Amino acid sequence: MKLKPFKSNVIIEPFRIRSVEPIRFTTMRDREKLLHKASWNPFLLKAADVLIDLLTDSGTGAMSSRQWSAMIESDESYAGSSSFYKFESAVRDITGFKHVIPTHQGRAAENILFSLLVTDDDIIPNNTHFDTTRAHVEHQGGQALDLLIEEGLQPLTIHPFKGNMDTEKLEQAILKRGKDNIPVIMLTVTNNSGGGQPVSMANVREVSRIAREHGIPFFIDACRFAENSWFVKIREEGYQDKKPIDIARELFSYADGCTMSAKKDGMSNIGGFLALNDDDLARECRSLSILTEGFPTYGGMAGYDMEAVAAGLYEALDEGYLRYRIRSTAYLGDKLVDAGISIIQPTGGHAVYIDAKHMLPHIPPLEYPAWSLTNALYLTGGVRSVEIGSVMFGLQPDGSEKPAPMELVRLAIPRRVYTQSHIDFLADVVIHTYNQREKLGGYRITSAPKVLRHFSAELEPLE
Ligand code: F0G
Repeated sequence: MKLKPFKSNVIIEPFRIRSVEPIRFTTMRDREKLLHKASWNPFLLKAADVLIDLLTDSGTGAMSSRQWSAMIESDESYAGSSSFYKFESAVRDITGFKHVIPTHQGRAAENILFSLLVTDDDIIPNNTHFDTTRAHVEHQGGQALDLLIEEGLQPLTIHPFKGNMDTEKLEQAILKRGKDNIPVIMLTVTNNSGGGQPVSMANVREVSRIAREHGIPFFIDACRFAENSWFVKIREEGYQDKKPIDIARELFSYADGCTMSAKKDGMSNIGGFLALNDDDLARECRSLSILTEGFPTYGGMAGYDMEAVAAGLYEALDEGYLRYRIRSTAYLGDKLVDAGISIIQPTGGHAVYIDAKHMLPHIPPLEYPAWSLTNALYLTGGVRSVEIGSVMFGLQPDGSEKPAPMELVRLAIPRRVYTQSHIDFLADVVIHTYNQREKLGGYRITSAPKVLRHFSAELEPLE
């Protein structure tokens, strides 16, 4: 018997589920009460009251049996724990950086780096600063400068690497401000705030060349480095036959260091690191990390967290996993596009970003259209998403408000958590909401802190 070779376009979850967590169904009436109680801010909802939680892909992934078994074997010594050496060796193997400083999560690495490098009136270029990165730069008196290519700001324009930095603008900024006022150049892979869009290897190389020419350190915000490597593999010429791990190694080889949240492509629930080559800077970073994070061989992580990350970094680079990961995000994106919904295209790596400005033109930016859509998705189907718009980015350092460049709703997909039927249900929720979009109204902020206000702001619907 000679059977024909089998080929299916269906990409299945490349794992079996052996441990499950129940999710709670609520009624629309329940959700209205719950959201009201949470001051119309989804961050203030109890997770148990959410059916499908797409608030973030950060720390919300499912760990593998291999990670759990490594965790049992952890060494919890204060100094010199063997779990640290495993962690350090994995980070060095993938990034090639000499010094590895563990931190409790990504923003702690940013805090250490920027506390030492940034002073008043410095500018820090990036493709797009993530909110914590921006806040840390501003906290040190610096200015966070976003230099994304034009295409990256146009949701519907198709471009394979919409996370690229505009390197002409980078050169102009260096000329204008002088290299002495630019202590570091950053590049965020993938570009979270701009739609989870990848940065091409050519762009990384060019940013690196410019940084080196001017003697400015170049650091990568590496949270989603594995997803970025996959996009390079499938979209950039010359990388089709390369393994994701080798693409990642090349990416890091152009930089002087990186900040990392292991809660994303570290496949862990907590953890992060700062990795770099400069000996003197590393010494200062370690001293500061003792003050804020802990001894340099644990830095805010338990031994078992370091074990989880050491294994997780390799799992994030597995080809079968990455193919499924990127394809399943695109599957959701395709469903929404087919229904006529504007999303950032092409679909990014870890999330689908709905263009709320386009969907809700009747809500002015400072009445927060993306916030309104976020709340409508929860009310409709118990789905929690996140606003990346004028609530998150509209508040200026001088206290005034300015509309954000885009009004987006991010549906971030936790790693290895939801199945295709969850995604099908989710698409139904979004489409149902879209079909009655003219009924959605704006919001008003009734109270908010001065920094990172979206996390705890209280709002109310405008009638
Ligand atoms: N940089 C980027 C690009 C990020 O996406 C994040 C976190 C951080 C830095 C900070 O890392 O949370 O470990 O301190 N992003 C999460 C998100 C919170 O939902 O996108 P952290």
